Amino acid sequence: MNWKRTAQWVCVASIILTAPAIADRERSPDGERASPAVQNAADVVPAASSSYRKACGVCHFAYPAGLLPPQSWERILTGLDDHFGESVELSRSELDSARRYLLNNAAGRGPHQLPYQLLRSLGDDVEPLRITGIPYFIEKHDGIPGAAVRDNPQVRSWSHCDACHTRADEGRFSEDEVQIPGFTGSLD
Ligand code: HEC
Ligand code: HEC
Repeated sequence: MNWKRTAQWVCVASIILTAPAIADRERSPDGERASPAVQNAADVVPAASSSYRKACGVCHFAYPAGLLPPQSWERILTGLDDHFGESVELSRSELDSARRYLLNNAAGRGPHQLPYQLLRSLGDDVEPLRITGIPYFIEKHDGIPGAAVRDNPQVRSWSHCDACHTRADEGRFSEDEVQIPGFTGSLD
């Protein structure tokens, strides 16, 4: 972590504690920083950057950057020609702005707990390509049967966070705000 980034987070921490007027002045040009009130209730800073949401939120939920470490995002961005079996084509400027958002807000670079919990659980694989492959993720979803996910036409994949987490778009993943659609069985 360099001095500039450290300074930035000290700054973010003080924004959260001080007046919203200051937060407005500190907002980045990408508009990627949510209001302090939203940040406080969230588990991760929501992906508010509209250019990122346009580039990376069309096929699936626009994952907040804080769900993966920076080296994972870099790996994903350099492998877009074979992105989980799909070819993702972005213009140079779309790619640059996605990279800027993802690297500036990656896990380990923000004030929230969840990204650190994900990072701490990483074993040998320190640059996972999937959030859903991270041990902390697997442990948290352990009791949910396949019938609720892969065999469920309203969910289909663990990657579709927003199918079950009703406030995922706000960076909220609390177990109190989960509703598995079309699933009436019980969870362990
Ligand atoms: C053309 C469609 C498409 C676009 C555009 C796209 N993705 Fe994906 N992405 C996929 C598919 C398909 C998967 C695999 C989903 C699954 O396994 O159900 C995936 C999976 C992922 C995953 C892993 C999710 C998990 O399981 O934890 C990440 C992270 C991801 N994408 C990031 C990005 C980023 C960043 C961008 C923008 C640069 C992007 N995606 C744009 C199709 C796309
Ligand atoms: C099939 C529905 C479903 C999908 C898809 C899903 N989750 Fe979950 N998630 C749950 C449920 C249900 C729980 C609560 C588990 C429990 O209470 O045992 C949970 C728990 C969590 C927790 C722990 C919350 C807490 O309060 O401790 C986190 C963090 C989380 N999910 C993140 C994600 C992310 C990120 C994604 C996408 C990459 C995702 N989930 C995809 C259903 C889902």
